[in-house]
Amino acid sequence: MSFEEWLVMLGKRFGTDKFGGPSHHYEHAYRFVEQIQFQPITLLEIGVLGGASLKLWREILPNAKIVGVDKNEKCRSLEWGRVSIETGDQSDEAFLSEIVRKHGPFDIVIDDGSHVAAHQLASMRGLWPHAKRFYVIEDLQHPPAAETARQMGNEVRRLLKARLPDDIAAIHCYPSIVVLEKACASPF
Ligand SMILES: C[S@@+](CC[C@H](N)C(=O)[O-])C[C@H]1O[C@@H](n2cnc3c(N)ncnc32)[C@H](O)[C@@H]1O
Repeated sequence: MSFEEWLVMLGKRFGTDKFGGPSHHYEHAYRFVEQIQFQPITLLEIGVLGGASLKLWREILPNAKIVGVDKNEKCRSLEWGRVSIETGDQSDEAFLSEIVRKHGPFDIVIDDGSHVAAHQLASMRGLWPHAKRFYVIEDLQHPPAAETARQMGNEVRRLLKARLPDDIAAIHCYPSIVVLEKACASPF
């Protein structure tokens, strides 16, 4: 079984809609995880819901510390073993700083939260400097309004001007999802 087929199988088992359709086929975008699968990494995911994706990451990454972030206080009940939960708003700068202080830096950051462009950008401003390898933004089809699309376009332009080529090694675009790869000092 390929790594992507395994993601699809586990996605179905745990009930996240990330892999294998009909909503998404993010198994292609998450191929990169295979190369760091057994390393003692830290993964942070914004957007926890019922914990399906947290269970999946816990299974796939046996040596990882996993941090789930959600605005819903009920998600605290999902804290278990290697999985920590922080509750707050992904667009709150002070909250993000506190998460970084407690758990950072992060090898992988996944934004599967509100899917509102302004929130995605606020999270990126707060977390990108503390992401060591990959920063994933899911569900980019969501911001429907011209204003949020314009905001996102402006921010990407700003990032490209301000950051490239310093700390972005690559931008991998797939349907509705982008994987930003950080230029890192040490090879995997
Ligand atoms: C799409 S669900 C996450 C699904 C989960 N990653 C999975 O695959 O099983 C989105 C989650 O983001 C949370 N959320 C929405 N707006 C948020 C915000 N502004 N800050 C933090 N979490 C937010 C919601 O409470 C919800 O649990």
